[in-house]
Amino acid sequence: MNSRRELFLEEMGLTPLWRLKSRETGAEEDAAEIAIQPGIAAAAPTLPAPRQTDAGANDRAEHIARMDWAELRPAVSGCSACGLRKTCTQTVFGVGDEQADWLLVGEAPGAEEDERGEPFVGQAGKLLDSMLAGIGLKRGEDVYIANVLKCRPPGNRNPEHREVELCSPFLVRQVELLRPKLILAMGRFACQALLSTDASIASLRGRLHRFQGVPLVVTYHPAYLLRTLPDKAKAWEDLCFARRTMADLAAQG
Ligand code: URA
Repeated sequence: MNSRRELFLEEMGLTPLWRLKSRETGAEEDAAEIAIQPGIAAAAPTLPAPRQTDAGANDRAEHIARMDWAELRPAVSGCSACGLRKTCTQTVFGVGDEQADWLLVGEAPGAEEDERGEPFVGQAGKLLDSMLAGIGLKRGEDVYIANVLKCRPPGNRNPEHREVELCSPFLVRQVELLRPKLILAMGRFACQALLSTDASIASLRGRLHRFQGVPLVVTYHPAYLLRTLPDKAKAWEDLCFARRTMADLAAQG
């Protein structure tokens, strides 16, 4: 096991490692893994569609759906649809490898992200980088990170439904342009928004869902894990599940 993984496991409170004697190769996920039966959730939800009566919103969503990366970035930074742009410092578009197999989706920029224009750069971001290292991934390499909302809600309040509705065409387009193999939705808000549900993370974990046809795994938000240490072990199970799912997808071609 390399030292980045060791650091991650320590940070997750998962050391010392417990390994099954029957396994010869050192699969770090033995540390805390509990078998989770993958199953594809029946529904293939999408972010909330603009109300059918709102012809302007539909036109806007259709326009965004035709954009390439070069058009999408300025469209996000110039967006004034929901009003959050008036109170944030800058938009936070997303960061990473545009050919990435992995897409990580969080909620919305916080104070540090708002200042730096990059998702997950605060304390939660440091834990996220550690979590990525734990499954052999690195920010920017085969990973793209984005949020449901591109603007920081004032005082980090919860996003409102209308803000999600108006911002969602940008994330939908990002998913279409990226075509990731797997989405990891982090935190209650992102999971509920992407899966159009009000179900708890606890009830959504351990199953494979889909967003825009892309397999999706849910897990806890890194900021929540910083406050709730016992759930770090569950997040580790989720990451191991995601990693196994990715391996299965790769084997399928
Ligand atoms: N929390 C999120 O959900 N996203 C960020 O970019 C930062 C904190």
